[in-house]
Amino acid sequence: MEKKPVLYSGIQPTGILTIGNFIGAINNWLKIQEDYFSIYSIVDLHAITVRQDPIEYRSRALSFYAQYIACGLDPEKSILYFQSHVHQHAELTWILNCYSYLGELRRMTQYKEKSKKNADNLNVGLLDYPVLMAADILLYQASVVPVGIDQKQHLELARDIADRFNNIYGQTFTIPEVYLGKQGNKIFSLQDPFAKMSKSDPNPDAAVSIIESPDSIARKFKRAVTDSESVVEYREDKPGISNLLVILSSMTDKSIDTLVKEYHDAGYKKFKEDVAEAVIEKLRPVREDYERLMKDKAYLLNIAGQGASRAAALAERTLAKVKKKIGLIERPSLN
Ligand code: TRP
Repeated sequence: MEKKPVLYSGIQPTGILTIGNFIGAINNWLKIQEDYFSIYSIVDLHAITVRQDPIEYRSRALSFYAQYIACGLDPEKSILYFQSHVHQHAELTWILNCYSYLGELRRMTQYKEKSKKNADNLNVGLLDYPVLMAADILLYQASVVPVGIDQKQHLELARDIADRFNNIYGQTFTIPEVYLGKQGNKIFSLQDPFAKMSKSDPNPDAAVSIIESPDSIARKFKRAVTDSESVVEYREDKPGISNLLVILSSMTDKSIDTLVKEYHDAGYKKFKEDVAEAVIEKLRPVREDYERLMKDKAYLLNIAGQGASRAAALAERTLAKVKKKIGLIERPSLN
């Protein structure tokens, strides 16, 4: 199994998982699960760069873990674990810090944005965030990293750091490739079809969670912003309707063209109802599985523990190699 190329991705346990994440990311991961040796981490060390309420944070992280399994990520085929359970991440980050430049970190778009937003908590973690991300990826010799376009710059930095290290010490890290999901898979807010559907949108009508109740899903699609025409067409000047078409197409595996023919004159009310229905049906098994998993915390934690052990074994291999290359003394084993 480990002969397959390694795919690595990290998920921040913040906000909610939306149908945007499902369509844009998770659904693609499921399709390629057989082709790669996949490793998914709940990056709970990344998300503390902004303040989290400890009690809420703990339960949200576990809930995210359960949601990924409920979506169909298979803990047997893949490794699913919490980043904070594998201490090698923090350790490699420190080492890579000494091979990363302040200038390049300060240039990161996300850092610039976040440092404006968090002027009252401009902690070093915000600046160092991409180095921790590089450590995540490089520890597992990952060659493929599926991320959204907003993370592409961080991935390029990870490649630069890996390359820099390899040039000094010889081949140590696999240089990861970015894997961008299909364009057109981007899902927009139901309330503002020009903005990406965000897992932390303050307007509750903007995003639909993957474990939301059918009633609530139906209500949100009913309220979805459209336009003042009445034809269902996929057009740039109809962002609301086009977004609903993309959602319906992903949920039913029917092409946009087919759906446009089917709904062209059906009226927005009927169209929205059918989009809601398709989402509800597609997510029903996910929600049911999720609820079952959350009732069995012991089972979930057991899987998480196994995931962490498997991840740590792989991570340790790389970390030991790195320590040796840079001239750290091997820890003597006392027996
Ligand atoms: N920074 C990524 C995001 O916000 C999450 C992440 C952390 C990640 N470590 C990673 C993604 C490693 C891919 C690989 O989306």
